[in-house]
Amino acid sequence: MMWGMRMEFSSLAVCAAAWIATLSCASPPTMSESPDARNDIHSYSRPNEVRVRHVALDLDVDFDAKRLFGTAELTVERLDPAADEVVLDNKGLRIESAEASTDGAVFEAAEFSIGETEEGLGGTLAIKLPAGATRVRVRYATGPLATGLQWLEPAQTAGKKHPFLFTQSQAIHARTWIPLQDSPGVRVTYEATIRTPKDLLAVMSAEMEQDPPRDGEYRFRMPQPIPPYLIALAVGDLSFREMGPRSGVYAEPSVVDAAASEFEDTEAMMEAVEELYGPYRWGRYDLLVLPPSFPFGGMENPRLTFATPTILAGDKSLVNLVAHELAHSWSGNLVTNATWRDFWLNEGFTVYLETRIQEAVYGRERADMESLLEVNGLEEEMRDLEPRDQILHVDLIGRDPDDGFTGVPYVKGMLFLVAIEAAVGREAFDDFLRSYFDDFAFQSILTEDFVARLNEKLPGAGEKVDLQAWIEEPGLEQPFPRPVSSAFEQVESESVRWQAGEIAPNALPTASWTTQEWLHFLRTLPDDLPLERMTELDAAFELTQARNSEIAHQWLLESVRRGYRAADARVERFLIEVGRRKFLKPLYEALAETPEGKQRALSIYEKARPGYHPISSGTIDQILEWNAD
Ligand code: BES
Ligand code: ZN
Repeated sequence: MMWGMRMEFSSLAVCAAAWIATLSCASPPTMSESPDARNDIHSYSRPNEVRVRHVALDLDVDFDAKRLFGTAELTVERLDPAADEVVLDNKGLRIESAEASTDGAVFEAAEFSIGETEEGLGGTLAIKLPAGATRVRVRYATGPLATGLQWLEPAQTAGKKHPFLFTQSQAIHARTWIPLQDSPGVRVTYEATIRTPKDLLAVMSAEMEQDPPRDGEYRFRMPQPIPPYLIALAVGDLSFREMGPRSGVYAEPSVVDAAASEFEDTEAMMEAVEELYGPYRWGRYDLLVLPPSFPFGGMENPRLTFATPTILAGDKSLVNLVAHELAHSWSGNLVTNATWRDFWLNEGFTVYLETRIQEAVYGRERADMESLLEVNGLEEEMRDLEPRDQILHVDLIGRDPDDGFTGVPYVKGMLFLVAIEAAVGREAFDDFLRSYFDDFAFQSILTEDFVARLNEKLPGAGEKVDLQAWIEEPGLEQPFPRPVSSAFEQVESESVRWQAGEIAPNALPTASWTTQEWLHFLRTLPDDLPLERMTELDAAFELTQARNSEIAHQWLLESVRRGYRAADARVERFLIEVGRRKFLKPLYEALAETPEGKQRALSIYEKARPGYHPISSGTIDQILEWNAD
């Protein structure tokens, strides 16, 4: 999505908007066109003048009004002695008052101004700083359109009795629930006091008591500096189960036991990464299983990964998601992309680490199958991506960072690292990564910092793999390091025999197939597979009723694409029950391929949309050209 430009900005907003608008602005921007790479084009804040170092929240959770209200007290550091205000990001917050203090004890009213807002980014909240002021306190409430929050009705939870709230701050939604400098280059420590209705539990991405009395007041502390997109909160009827010495799981009471057994290998995963890349530096690693409207598979909030319940397959077959979010404790949370242009540093490294964890815990065969599914998915996706979106070091000027959320930073990023590994050998690459995480720990870095580091520590590797092409050019460097899986080759030959009518469906060796083999089988079915063959498969394996969410999703997608109508009711139920964008997007896209399918999609969407997170409904609105007003 390109953001629309408004021309009636205040002078402050024009300066910031100029970065964003260099491509779409009709008149030339007033500021330099070659911004410092460390300048984050997705934040209006000015951290090089006055920088926020610590955030202290004191918030009430009001489920009736669907808003958070209270105060954010920010500790600031004046880097530019001439600066007389701190500039924060603000998207839709209702600012009641601002105060400043020199000692953190006595606060006095401070002048503040709210800048013009632009679609996507929000605007500024500028607070005047008297001489010597080191703290500001903002009294505020969140607005009704806060995209960083989802308020769930009891009916949207497993227990159906209590409401639920969760935040999702990545990439630029923290500014819709906290006034701060919402840039991944501005790391902060934080603490919070959160008040909730009694009986509900609040949890955050911070140190907290594991199973506190449900008395309606909870305290949190994150002593390590983190980028603002990792500040997270959830409130609901949650229980806790310990899994290992430093890991446990929070979920609604009816889900928590299943979650604890699904994730029982978490400690083994932690040990596997520590062995490879050095200590886990965040103390505990817990997971929170959210209701099914959570728009992502997982979110690596430090100390507390947020996860979709759709990975509770009952057989640990989808726990690569845990490996992925855990891996972010090194790639992403410890060493962070300084701007959203460098997002591939977060995700490409994480997918690479994820496959290494899977290999260590479940063996090479499974890791290879999982990577191959990803790589096949990337190749398919790339066919529809414009060249500029196939570049790792993506140009996001004038665009939402969410536009960079494709398989490119993830899977092309991973393949690039596999190529380097192949060029220098695993041992040398492991050493490189370990010292990369050590030396850049708790820093936010640019693609350029990674390149400089690689050239210094592994001289010659960059030329060997053609680093410039991998990072700055579209497409995949050829030949690229495609994983091989003999299990998948076997699935392919069995599929061909079944398609040719040589064997009946029940002669397929499905009893020994893993989820990954099933997914590969379904994805390799030819486009022109006749409907009666779909019926035959469904009769043999009850695929329309599949309980594994990935298998169900793939089957439903194949059904929609081929007009297999026996799956219609399940498609509708799936779209209403699940809010995970990765599942919704392809299904709605496939439906929208035909006029009749689009009608059906619209009628399902009308029912489903109120239950979706704004991140998911934003995507589906575009696909179906839905007019939200
Ligand atoms: N950090 C991402 C999710 C994200 C990215 C949220 C960008 C908002 C903006 C998370 O680590 C992730 O990648 N999740 C994946 C799962 C994974 C196994 C690839 C997802 O949710 O699908
Ligand atoms: Zn990730």
